[in-house]
Amino acid sequence: ISLLPYNTFGFDVKARYFISIFSIDELRALLNSPEWSSVPKLILGGGSNVLLTADVDALVIHIEIKGIEVVAEESGHVVVRSGAGVNWHAFVMHCVENGYAGVENLSLIPGTVGAAPMQNIGAYGVEIKDVFEHLEAVEIKTGQLRKFSAEECAFGYRESVFKRSLKDQFIITAVTFRLSKKPEFRVSYGDIQQTLEEMQVKELSLKALSAAVCKIRQSKLPDPKELGNAGSFFKNPEIPNEHFTALKERFPTLPGYPTSPNQIKVPAGWLIEQAGWKGFREGPVGVHARQALVLVHYGDGHGEQILALSRQIQASVCDTFGILLNPEVNVI
Ligand code: FAD
Ligand code: EPU
Repeated sequence: ISLLPYNTFGFDVKARYFISIFSIDELRALLNSPEWSSVPKLILGGGSNVLLTADVDALVIHIEIKGIEVVAEESGHVVVRSGAGVNWHAFVMHCVENGYAGVENLSLIPGTVGAAPMQNIGAYGVEIKDVFEHLEAVEIKTGQLRKFSAEECAFGYRESVFKRSLKDQFIITAVTFRLSKKPEFRVSYGDIQQTLEEMQVKELSLKALSAAVCKIRQSKLPDPKELGNAGSFFKNPEIPNEHFTALKERFPTLPGYPTSPNQIKVPAGWLIEQAGWKGFREGPVGVHARQALVLVHYGDGHGEQILALSRQIQASVCDTFGILLNPEVNVI
């Protein structure tokens, strides 16, 4: 089966086996069946954070476990559980419509609820860990269901235990969030304030803030339906203060945001743009003209070509700034 509809880069690779899963029971039955136990497995949600570089010689498990339910209501909070296969933006819209606050800044991020904890998705000053209660996951080896607290997930910037020590060991089936009934609007990041003014928003609301975030994102990020991409290809690097100070002498406009007393995060998009890559195109692949951190596929190309381009960019940024960019996208 072709994985073309299942990855937002739009690469036409084949999967040896493919199955869609609609419930936890179905998933456990699959994992417990002797027929499939020794076959390697690849889990896919929306395919918006993967780079498929070759045919997948494995069983692709496409998670389509649906359902959103309120599991508890307290005076100021509501606890909401969502199936892993729910579309993330649909979940955000459900919360915004019902007045559940906390995920509105994460509007329009592609993909599924189940993949969101994998890299602790974040945007506009909010990360999923800020509203996370717990998740449920099935162990691939045993088919057993296990609950993970926030602490056990070991969330970091675009990181979790599922990308590190428990990589490829668990399939997330549901995520539970603790949302607020009294919004605390977070508008200090980037152009949010300015966009709200342009939209002539008089009274801030969850809907208005969500709409502003959508507007900013649509102005910068390519829509995968029109141009293949997986969002930011690299993570924003964090460098020691001394390195930042030395670079600032050579590049006075270098932006930076302290993340700890001795570390500064610098925007990878800025580094890539300064190294001359913004808008670069080579055949079917290139660097987006409005956001240099996004690598794009124009069609009829191969994942290997994106990988090769990413390596050229890494080498070039390392040459110019002495900084090694690490991919955010999962290369398969
Ligand atoms: P997939 O791409 O299907 O999978 C990603 C990884 O998680 C793979 O390793 C996969 O094996 C694993 N996985 C998927 N589902 C499960 C599961 N249920 N259980 C276990 N493992 C699983 N990310 C941000 O953080 N912030 C952004 O602002 C942002 N903007 C983006 C904008 C665009 C235009 C695009 C294309 C991507 C953007 N991303 C962003 C990246 C992406 O949307 C997120 O990483 C998203 O959470 C991926 O979800 P998915 O369902 O598509 O995951
Ligand atoms: N910049 C440039 N040139 C560019 C792009 C960016 O100079 O071509 C500089 C600008 O100085 C800008 C700064 O980089 O002020 C930051 O840019 P932007 O606000 O677009 O955010 P980003 O750092 O490139 C990160 C996340 C995004 C997330 C946005 C908004 C990472 C790796 N990326 O991007 O997440 O949506 O912030 O919060 O942290 C993703 O993970 O896939 C993703 C899109």
